[in-house]
Amino acid sequence: MSLRKMKIGVLGTGEVGRAIGTKLIQVGNEVMLGSRTRDNPAAVEWSRINGERAYHGTFAEAAAFGDVIFNCTNGLFSLDALRSAGEENLSGKILIDVANALEFSDDQPILTSCRESLAERIQQAFPEAKVVKTLNFVGYEVMVNPSLLKEGERQMLIAGNDVEAKRLVERMLKEWFGWEEVMDLGDIKAAKALEMLVPLWFRVFETMGTTIFGFKVVPPHGVKDYKRKTN
Ligand SMILES: NC(=O)c1ccc[n+]([C@@H]2O[C@H](COP(=O)([O-])OP(=O)(O)OC[C@H]3O[C@@H](n4cnc5c(N)ncnc54)[C@H](OP(=O)(O)O)[C@@H]3O)[C@@H](O)[C@H]2O)c1
Repeated sequence: MSLRKMKIGVLGTGEVGRAIGTKLIQVGNEVMLGSRTRDNPAAVEWSRINGERAYHGTFAEAAAFGDVIFNCTNGLFSLDALRSAGEENLSGKILIDVANALEFSDDQPILTSCRESLAERIQQAFPEAKVVKTLNFVGYEVMVNPSLLKEGERQMLIAGNDVEAKRLVERMLKEWFGWEEVMDLGDIKAAKALEMLVPLWFRVFETMGTTIFGFKVVPPHGVKDYKRKTN
């Protein structure tokens, strides 16, 4: 049975929020894009282009609207954005975190903290939300259109504490976005590793001169798939 259509709150009006919002509309959902201001010009234009199931509002309005929430805000300010979204609007809901908290040093991105990932900090700040980290280590075009990558190589990684939430996100990634395979790395502590991929992503981007690439875990010769050891 295919996934039921949902109301989804997408917090963030940048390239990522708009790309994810558009994809979610295209597969039949209702989406509200959230911003610091209700009349953010990018969000107003996005909802105009995307038709009657596309709305825009404040972070709090989008979070209240969504059965599921995507965090697509600038990672340096995600905790502020989520606080203004309101704990009561996140409680009990799946919160898919695609953000990275990055600074630049010597023209290279560095994470603001390697001891604790952004996703772990979000989970601590909002213990009733079911935080799932994913998609943060590919460019926004690839996130929602993995068919840009070579067939058979379209693998996404996820992490989070709530197993049921991860299974639902896995289905969204496959059925709505088109990822062929999803590898579950276990609890939210694994978000550290997912966020640490971003400096590598940046270096590969500089080397190849394109944002259209992904990362894949390659099993040993003759092994079709790994058994899951973690939750
Ligand atoms: N670009 C990519 O291809 C890519 C790939 C992987 C992951 N990511 C991650 O995805 C996230 C979104 O990236 P992006 O490039 O789409 O947009 P972005 O410019 O990093 O973030 C835009 C969003 O952040 C919000 N924001 C900025 N400053 C804020 C503040 N002081 N307080 C609260 N909210 C604030 C903005 O709010 P307003 O709407 O009010 O302006 C806007 O909604 C980032 O964390 C990024 O690291 C990006």
